[in-house]
Amino acid sequence: MTDKHYTLIDPESGAELQLKRYDPTLGPSVLDIGALYGKLGVFTHDPGFGATSCCESNITFIDGEKGVLVYRGYPIEQLAEHSSFIEVCYLLLHGELPTPAQLAAFDESIRTHTMINETLLRFFNGFHHDAHPMAMVTGVVASMSAFYHDSTNISDPADREVFAHRMIAKIPTIAAAAYKHSLGQPFVYPKNDLSYCANLVNMLFAVPSESYEIKPIAVEALDLLFILHADHEQNCSTSTVRLAGSSGTNPYSAIAAGISALWGPAHGGANEAVINMLEEIGDASQIGKYIAKAKDKNDPFRLMGFGHRVYKNYDPRATIIRKMCHRVLETVGQENAVLLELAVELEQLALKDEYFIEKNLYPNVDFYSGIIYRALGIPTSMFTVMFAIARTVGWVAHWQEMVADPKSRIGRPRQLYNGPGLRDYAPINKRD
Ligand code: ACO
Repeated sequence: MTDKHYTLIDPESGAELQLKRYDPTLGPSVLDIGALYGKLGVFTHDPGFGATSCCESNITFIDGEKGVLVYRGYPIEQLAEHSSFIEVCYLLLHGELPTPAQLAAFDESIRTHTMINETLLRFFNGFHHDAHPMAMVTGVVASMSAFYHDSTNISDPADREVFAHRMIAKIPTIAAAAYKHSLGQPFVYPKNDLSYCANLVNMLFAVPSESYEIKPIAVEALDLLFILHADHEQNCSTSTVRLAGSSGTNPYSAIAAGISALWGPAHGGANEAVINMLEEIGDASQIGKYIAKAKDKNDPFRLMGFGHRVYKNYDPRATIIRKMCHRVLETVGQENAVLLELAVELEQLALKDEYFIEKNLYPNVDFYSGIIYRALGIPTSMFTVMFAIARTVGWVAHWQEMVADPKSRIGRPRQLYNGPGLRDYAPINKRD
């Protein structure tokens, strides 16, 4: 923080307000407008929060202009190459990379919290078989608040840690149960001798009637995708978790709110939308038509997996995922190579198009992730669920940071009211 100020002058009264400027470790400085309404009687207006910092955070930083993403200071490329999802979870939650003993203890704790209460498992029977897995996962995660409420004192750091471990450990079990329910297959219980991603693969694909061999490439690809999706600072779902959590609500409910926000096609639902779009495009000869549709202001169609609120450059995660996409398709799901070829060609054509260049629209994290999921045999409706599993640690880390911050206040935005002015109630017989 600095003692530098910006001065704001009310053009009518001439009243002045000094706005304190805070300089962060990385990224643009922010102006503290907390005294604005009290001193000048006005609010700021920023729909979509494009220029508003809503909290102080030490977890993740994005430089959208340069296409840089760091978790706790570590570049995503280094974490993707050298780390594991479990280690990244520890890093996001604790702020530092773990020692071998810390990692072993954390890993052990996550592995031994994977089972969910049997009664919770029965909740799935209440859903119709064609319920979207995101709807089931949201509902069941929200229901966790009915199971662990008496041991969730959010002002106690030990309780917060138990919540964090439970949430991260149980979300794959809930996700896999949603999938099994949609197939009408029996749930597969977690096996604690398996790694995080191997366990998930087993719960998704194993059946009691035959042995199932976990493919190492599936485990490797999921671990990488989960590292890349683990956090992304104040995105829509994370801000939702923070806003819901700021009232002091049960943390499982706050996470359920985040899962709901993630589902939308402008956010985590885009990976599902990308595959639907590629299938609709069908073959390379149609790409031009779809690019024209995306550019047409009278057509609501957008190139899914393209564009980002923060990245005005290539999303660094998309580069890493594209490489893994090629590797996965060399090993499994070769029939999806056509989809990858189509995606690469679409990307190349869009990146050469004036419209996309001028608006800085580049592929985002979701452009290639769906092709990997598809090649691994994960159905389209589960793509956003996979994203939710990975992002759970980010939501939990932000929730913990917020709850532990003594400066945290309930989130309560203001508005620019443009409804009717004051008027008197008219009795029903006096209305036209
Ligand atoms: N296709 C065509 N045009 C686009 C696209 C796109 N994918 N994305 C943005 N644009 C255009 C808009 O029409 C707008 O044009 P205008 O200035 O002429 O009106 C301009 O680019 C800016 O777009 P906004 O919607 O204002 O940008 P915003 O930051 O609000 O939205 C978003 C970002 C939601 C990601 C948007 O780019 C989009 O809808 N992309 C497709 C969906 C998608 O891939 N979402 C995943 C994001 S990553 C994630 O959440 C994990």
